[in-house]
Amino acid sequence: MIGHTPLSEHRPGLNRRLDHLAAYPFARLADLLADVAPPHGMKPLSMVVGEPQRSPPSFIHEVMAAHWQDWNKYPLPIGTKDFRAAAGDWLVRRYGLPKGRFDPDTSLLPVTGTREALFQLALLVVSPADGGATPVVLLPNPLYPVYQGAGLIAGAEPVFLDATAETGHLPDLTAIPDSVLERTVLFYLCTPANPQGAIADSAYLEQAIRLARHHGFVLAVDECYAEIYGHTPPIGALTVAAALDPAGPAPWRNLVVLHSLSKRSSAAGMRSGFIAGDPTVIGAFQRLRSYSLAGTPLPLLAAAAALWRDEDHVVETRARYRAAFDAAEAALGQHPGFVRPPAGFFLWLEVGDGERMAQRLWAEQGVRVLPGAYVTAPSPDGRNHGAPFVRIALVHDIPIVADACRRIAQLLLPGASPHLPSVETP
Ligand SMILES: Cc1ncc(COP(=O)(O)O)c(C=O)c1O
Repeated sequence: MIGHTPLSEHRPGLNRRLDHLAAYPFARLADLLADVAPPHGMKPLSMVVGEPQRSPPSFIHEVMAAHWQDWNKYPLPIGTKDFRAAAGDWLVRRYGLPKGRFDPDTSLLPVTGTREALFQLALLVVSPADGGATPVVLLPNPLYPVYQGAGLIAGAEPVFLDATAETGHLPDLTAIPDSVLERTVLFYLCTPANPQGAIADSAYLEQAIRLARHHGFVLAVDECYAEIYGHTPPIGALTVAAALDPAGPAPWRNLVVLHSLSKRSSAAGMRSGFIAGDPTVIGAFQRLRSYSLAGTPLPLLAAAAALWRDEDHVVETRARYRAAFDAAEAALGQHPGFVRPPAGFFLWLEVGDGERMAQRLWAEQGVRVLPGAYVTAPSPDGRNHGAPFVRIALVHDIPIVADACRRIAQLLLPGASPHLPSVETP
């Protein structure tokens, strides 16, 4: 009887795979800086989280208000036809998909933030090893940490593919051993990449799609940063798949892409995005999600549809990020570790010792940045190629970005007179 047994004997068992997951990067940073105080009298600035600080377009209030009576309805995993049409039309427009080949009713599902969809994808494709070989999930390195957590918790072996300056900041697809590819069930590819902003070109994406088809795995291309670019819109994996297979009946096979309103529309709090691609994967995902998911509330889904139908705010947002990079470049461009990325909103700045620099920046300049080692897995010999970097999210208004970058420059470029053109706020 429970009442007669000491409580300590009834401790719950936890999933032992959790032991292999380090604390999340933001928690590690909080530990690192726990005993470090920012300078007295200096406004602390956090450049840590990739959370756009500008407001989403205000028209979403009206759309949600017009759908207020839908709050009493359970949302279905498949969402609404209107949402699928809005997101599907955007995909076809943005990526020039051939008319009539993309059917949003079979190839697209809303997701409550791409984070949960990325996590659940691993649960969808990883089967228990059942005494056979352990399935592999391929991960870029550095990476969005959710990929690693998903692969591990699903029971796969995470295999990290280093993405460094030498490999163009994308995993080297030619370096993956066949013995690994044979066991691969899922490959998370991020383009534009978080944190480096590198963009996979069409040859790269074609090679990745061919590998997925040849070895029978799912290629999940995380395109969350696809709308935050400098000058050239990044090509999408669906465009490449359509060109590879101009007339076949299943152009999206083995491929899914993920898109989010968090970055495109500065609406991270809405928790809204979508997954699109191979109808077999999408259909199975819908089945999994009907057991596991709360679904996106219908008033939010209506607002999300309106956002996918509007481009004006995205053009403005892009201009803001360009101005943010102009401000960063004006302050830090002379630093040898500075690289202006073609896309995304992070600076991936090489500073020597990222952890030490994060401590010093907080203590001496009141600026919080993320050590690169926290988003990069070490290799088996313990070396961490992300350790010399810090990740700096340029998500604030331009004056704040400019202030933070000038403070960083005071520490990294002492004595240098930063080039400070007036940066216009779009
Ligand atoms: C690479 C990448 N993918 C996915 C996400 C998740 O975005 P959301 O869940 O807000 O759609 C993020 C968020 O920072 C990200 O950086």
